[in-house]
Amino acid sequence: MKHYLQFKDFTADEYAYLFERAALIKKKFKSYEKHHPLVDRTLAMIFEKASTRTRVSFEAGMYQLGGSVVHLTTGDSQLGRAEPIEDSAKVISRMVDLVMIRTFEQTKIEKFAAHSRVPVINGLTNEFHPCQILADIFTFIEHRGSIQGKTVAWVGDGNNMANTWLQAAELLGFKVHVSTPQGYEVDEKLAVGAGGASAGSYQFFSDPREACQGADLVTTDVWTSMGYEAENEARRLAFADWCVDQEMMAAAKPDALFMHCLPAHRGEEVEADVIDGPQSVVWDEAENRMHVQKALMEYLLLGKLA
Ligand code: CP
Ligand code: NVA
Repeated sequence: MKHYLQFKDFTADEYAYLFERAALIKKKFKSYEKHHPLVDRTLAMIFEKASTRTRVSFEAGMYQLGGSVVHLTTGDSQLGRAEPIEDSAKVISRMVDLVMIRTFEQTKIEKFAAHSRVPVINGLTNEFHPCQILADIFTFIEHRGSIQGKTVAWVGDGNNMANTWLQAAELLGFKVHVSTPQGYEVDEKLAVGAGGASAGSYQFFSDPREACQGADLVTTDVWTSMGYEAENEARRLAFADWCVDQEMMAAAKPDALFMHCLPAHRGEEVEADVIDGPQSVVWDEAENRMHVQKALMEYLLLGKLA
């Protein structure tokens, strides 16, 4: 049994399969072809933080695969009344076939997985957001082909998305140019481990414009992630120069793409003319969450299919 708790949980070969499978599943969806490999299977979705895309993509995706879903939040379950994670994991995983969790600390999802009888998927933690990067790379491939050897510029917070990009770069052979304000750096140890990454998979820049130079993809995220709202004002000041604008896009390659996992704040981490401009692929990126996660759920439950 496999869990998907961070990007490095899968090999490059498994990603190659998933991207191919997601393309096939997307094609079937677009042509209204029924694809029901998960009939009688149930996904439990546990949300301890808000969501639009993750909920809709997993829920719609599971129904489209012929399965069903159970939706739980901290507020309407015993999770919010301090039932131990181990107990929740043991109980929930006796009744469903797959669990998706969006929560705070990575240690929480790891503890759940350790006591679960069924595969567990990370739907975002403070530290990682692997399903989003899965969708982002699939989107890049759709528009530009293989991401191997390419350069991704990360402009903004050293958060769950940034950590996951670092893991993906090391695994899939591309480079990340990271620019964060001082005090909001990526935790390298957390992202790629104590030993560091393989040669050249990431590089830090104090100037976000320099980070964008020659990039094939420019990407950013909110200044304040869920759970860090108390730091809102301090972050507003610190991040003022980390707003992706036309000047940054002009420093990147002429055919560079722009991505944002959404929700976005126009005029903060990105200017409206960038996110709503011709280089932006944010709507494809959001839609692709569903297609890649359908491939992921199918893989976790049925393995590789011919
Ligand atoms: N990108 C993403 O995970 O969006 P939601 O918070 O709406 O799920
Ligand atoms: N980094 C953001 C991503 C939201 C999808 C957060 O954790 O809130």
